[in-house]
Amino acid sequence: MRGMKLVALLSALLLVLAACGGGDDGGSDTTAADGSTEETTGGGGGGGGEGGLIGVAMPTQTSERWIADGNSVKEGLEELGYEVDLQFGNDDIPTQTQQIDSMITSGAQLLIIAAIDGTALTAQLDAAAAEGIPVVSYDRLIRDSENVDFYVTFDNYKVGVQQATALLVGLGLLNADGSEGDATGPFNIELFAGSLDDNNAFFFWNGAIDTLQPYFDDGTLVVPSGQMDIEQAAILRWQQETAQRRMEDLLTAAYSGGTEIDGVLSPYDGLSRGIITALQNAGYSTPDFPVVTGQDAEIASVKLIVDELQQSTIFKDTRKLAAQAVTASQAYLAGNEPEANDTETYENGVKVVPSYLLESDIVYADNITALLVDSGYWTQEEVDSGQAAEG
Ligand code: GAL
Repeated sequence: MRGMKLVALLSALLLVLAACGGGDDGGSDTTAADGSTEETTGGGGGGGGEGGLIGVAMPTQTSERWIADGNSVKEGLEELGYEVDLQFGNDDIPTQTQQIDSMITSGAQLLIIAAIDGTALTAQLDAAAAEGIPVVSYDRLIRDSENVDFYVTFDNYKVGVQQATALLVGLGLLNADGSEGDATGPFNIELFAGSLDDNNAFFFWNGAIDTLQPYFDDGTLVVPSGQMDIEQAAILRWQQETAQRRMEDLLTAAYSGGTEIDGVLSPYDGLSRGIITALQNAGYSTPDFPVVTGQDAEIASVKLIVDELQQSTIFKDTRKLAAQAVTASQAYLAGNEPEANDTETYENGVKVVPSYLLESDIVYADNITALLVDSGYWTQEEVDSGQAAEG
């Protein structure tokens, strides 16, 4: 990731230098006390922001994907000559609403928002619409507002299908090519879902459950806890600790007396790490570790896949999503409509939001190099250490 970022940074720098004729009002990043990054580019007389100000609101810095998303969007827009106000909301709704309010009062010409709570931004979106500011919903759909103009995301239902497929492959019920595997079961599994205020959680869940349903129906898969509703499986704000606690509770309640767990459907790497810790604390170890899925290809989890503690993750290339957000923004700022490739799926409670959906891939131990290293998403050193390189 580091190489890509450097190249992008260098070209952004060259652009700024060219625009300023070597002047020194290009601006600087400051990190606020709450950990959010504030872009304080010159303002007023041009500086690096010839194209105008764009507000980018990301939900949190606790997950490295959102940091990468934020930085990629910022770099992409800066390369085009825009000034960017990038803020992270620390998973706190009032913080995010305040950040968006301030973007609007600072004169943002467009907003790109990955919501913490997809239903909590109606007032901000009304204010944006009153000022004629287009809003691009990023990765997570903003709900209950007609003022969401466009949505860039991945095919979230398909992500859920991929997570369930990976689980079935891990259990031996399917082969990686989709053909029927040798295993017959029955297998004991448990189900986790994401945060219920994140619209994506329902898409991941529905894709996964639709895929697993035939195996529940014929008894091949069993959920000993009986917790099969999304409300029971959900983890508020996608917190690792909450997932660990729920897994511990499930093990205590449904797996005493010799019952063993064979697999866990987990929709996000952060949850998977909590689940894996709970399983390890309960005495599970390799090579007979339960099959645990994931999402996001976070570096610590990629290392867990190498170490055979996590079985899979879903790779959603955040660089592509960021590029798509930049393309959509460019269209609006040039007075055009962005190109959508889906105008049916994402109904937000008020309207169907035109969307651009990207494709994702299942990562197993044997395709980490092909998917993550060869594409430059992570370096081999990062995979080996389980840590992202600085910078
Ligand atoms: C979802 C996103 C996932 C994962 C999760 C937790 O909205 O689509 O990729 O990042 O949030 O951050």
